[in-house]
Amino acid sequence: MKSCFTVSNSLFFFLNFLSVYTRRSESAPYYVFHDCQNTTLFTPNSTYGSNLDALLSSLSSTANNSTDGFANATAGQNPPDQAYGLFLCRGDVSTATCSDCVATGKQEILQRCPNQRVSVIWYDECMLRYSNQSIFSVMEQEPSPTLYNTGNISNPAEFVQVLGNTITDAAWNASDGDSRKKVAVATANFTSLQKLYTFAQCTPDLSKWDCNTCLRWVIPNLPQG
Ligand SMILES: *[C@@H]1O[C@H](CO)[C@@H](O)[C@H](O)[C@H]1NC(C)=O
Ligand SMILES: *[C@@H]1O[C@H](CO)[C@@H](O)[C@H](O)[C@H]1NC(C)=O
Ligand SMILES: *[C@@H]1O[C@H](CO)[C@@H](O)[C@H](O)[C@H]1NC(C)=O
Ligand SMILES: *[C@@H]1O[C@H](CO)[C@@H](O)[C@H](O)[C@H]1NC(C)=O
Ligand SMILES: *[C@@H]1O[C@H](CO)[C@@H](O)[C@H](O)[C@H]1NC(C)=O
Ligand SMILES: *[C@@H]1O[C@H](CO)[C@@H](O)[C@H](O)[C@H]1NC(C)=O
Ligand SMILES: *[C@@H]1O[C@H](CO)[C@@H](O)[C@H](O)[C@H]1NC(C)=O
Ligand SMILES: *[C@@H]1O[C@H](CO)[C@@H](O)[C@H](O)[C@H]1NC(C)=O
Ligand SMILES: *[C@@H]1O[C@H](CO)[C@@H](O)[C@H](O)[C@H]1NC(C)=O
Repeated sequence: MKSCFTVSNSLFFFLNFLSVYTRRSESAPYYVFHDCQNTTLFTPNSTYGSNLDALLSSLSSTANNSTDGFANATAGQNPPDQAYGLFLCRGDVSTATCSDCVATGKQEILQRCPNQRVSVIWYDECMLRYSNQSIFSVMEQEPSPTLYNTGNISNPAEFVQVLGNTITDAAWNASDGDSRKKVAVATANFTSLQKLYTFAQCTPDLSKWDCNTCLRWVIPNLPQG
């Protein structure tokens, strides 16, 4: 295991070990993952569909002028057709990059998840999510994909130990953030030559407790070796 990027509905998380993290702020958002279940389809041209369009447009225009890199929105009047959505941009990206990412997500989420009532899409730079029920201030641990790179590590048990400690540090500091931003980094010297970098972020609508719980939840779920 060399580096791993774990995302779940309420957080961004990635660990980079000895690998150079390249910013792609000048280019198109880097697609990571999406998730939608076929159990929540809506009819094309339905009220939910038009509410969803309004929701995504609203989020996208908010992102264009958002210094927090986070916003939630609601569209529609009546519960069965109401759409709830949010976006979260990575804590270190500019407003322009954030806006670009959310605008891309607005288009792609509908292509990757056509007619879905509940969907989420992640890019390196942002996450965009919507649902037919309120998702605000609610911690979600699934879906939680893990992505790897192909490098090897010679002492995985020790690595997982250092990783766990470093994630714990980042999780505490991220959850200590305020209602506008919950993000932190932590580093460790794995060996004299190898440095471990971690980055952790929650949507800022989560409570401190939920944020910390969600981030630390990845530790026992890390692939071992
Ligand atoms: C959703 O439905 C499509 C079309 O019926 C199918 O190809 C796809 O495998 C389904 N996906 C899931 C996650 O069930
Ligand atoms: C949805 O509306 C468009 C434009 O009004 C129309 O062309 C299309 O046939 C409609 N689709 C369905 C499934 O009703
Ligand atoms: C974002 O705002 C700028 C000006 O502030 C405008 O030129 C641009 O069209 C806007 N983009 C979107 C997607 O609304
Ligand atoms: C962006 O927000 C600032 C401060 O709230 C406001 O003055 C400005 O008009 C907004 N710009 C757009 C394009 O909405
Ligand atoms: C955003 O979420 C908060 C709860 O966390 C809620 O009170 C507020 O109405 C939501 N805003 C919109 C525009 O949906
Ligand atoms: C959301 O959609 C699913 C699938 O259609 C439905 O079972 C559920 O009751 C809906 N939730 C709300 C709050 O309308
Ligand atoms: C990692 O180790 C496996 C098994 O020893 C080997 O096949 C693979 O080539 C190694 N990968 C790298 C990137 O060194
Ligand atoms: C966490 O926050 C505390 C207090 O601000 C600070 O002293 C510590 O260095 C931070 N830890 C990391 C890993 O950034
Ligand atoms: C890692 O080692 C460097 C140089 O030896 C030192 O300056 C730094 O404080 C160490 N970092 C941590 C997190 O222990």
